[in-house]
Amino acid sequence: MARLLLLLIPLFSAFVLAATITEPEGYSTTVKAPYQEHKPKKLTHIHFYFHDIVSGDNPTAVPVARGPTTNSSATGFGTVSVVDDLLTVGPDITSQEVGRPQGMYTSTDKKQVGLLMTFNLVFTKGKFAGSTVSLYGWNSATLKVKEMPIIGGTGAFRLARGYAQAKTFVFNATSGDAVVEYNVYIWH
Ligand SMILES: *[C@@H]1O[C@H](CO)[C@@H](O)[C@H](O)[C@H]1NC(C)=O
Ligand SMILES: *[C@@H]1O[C@H](CO)[C@@H](O)[C@H](O)[C@H]1NC(C)=O
Repeated sequence: MARLLLLLIPLFSAFVLAATITEPEGYSTTVKAPYQEHKPKKLTHIHFYFHDIVSGDNPTAVPVARGPTTNSSATGFGTVSVVDDLLTVGPDITSQEVGRPQGMYTSTDKKQVGLLMTFNLVFTKGKFAGSTVSLYGWNSATLKVKEMPIIGGTGAFRLARGYAQAKTFVFNATSGDAVVEYNVYIWH
């Protein structure tokens, strides 16, 4: 009996501790995951090409804001661009569509060309059509491979974590248009 009590005391204090931790907060509860898929159980690798069109009559990336010193900055520091680009299976823009990266890139580096990327990668074709992942990260022109975190997702990618690695495939210095190869690893 005494032994049983000794066993029960730590159990009881664990309950008390749990209650004192959760109760005063009052705004959150732990709930049961509505379905098993909430536990990350697979790593999905997605490969595509990201077409960034800044030139011509129908650009898919447009600068919407600049700072007072942006025009005299060699790196375009302070430029904010809004983007609705195209993602395709192959490097050719006419190859099969995978999705659309919708978001913004902001020039945030005063010394070298560098961007803050804030994007929803919206998948529009195939088994992930309608699902999205959110990409947020540092895209520095000084790096050959730019690595950016995947900080969440929706649909098939609900509660996703992961990372994207981006490498310039073609950059046209005259027009400013670029094709960037992406390898995205999503744990979901
Ligand atoms: C910067 O350049 C743009 C495009 O040439 C121009 O429209 C804008 O007025 C300039 N801004 C400043 C603050 O000089
Ligand atoms: C680069 O862009 C310029 C200006 O739009 C265009 O004339 C040229 O054909 C492009 N080069 C390539 C290799 O696509």
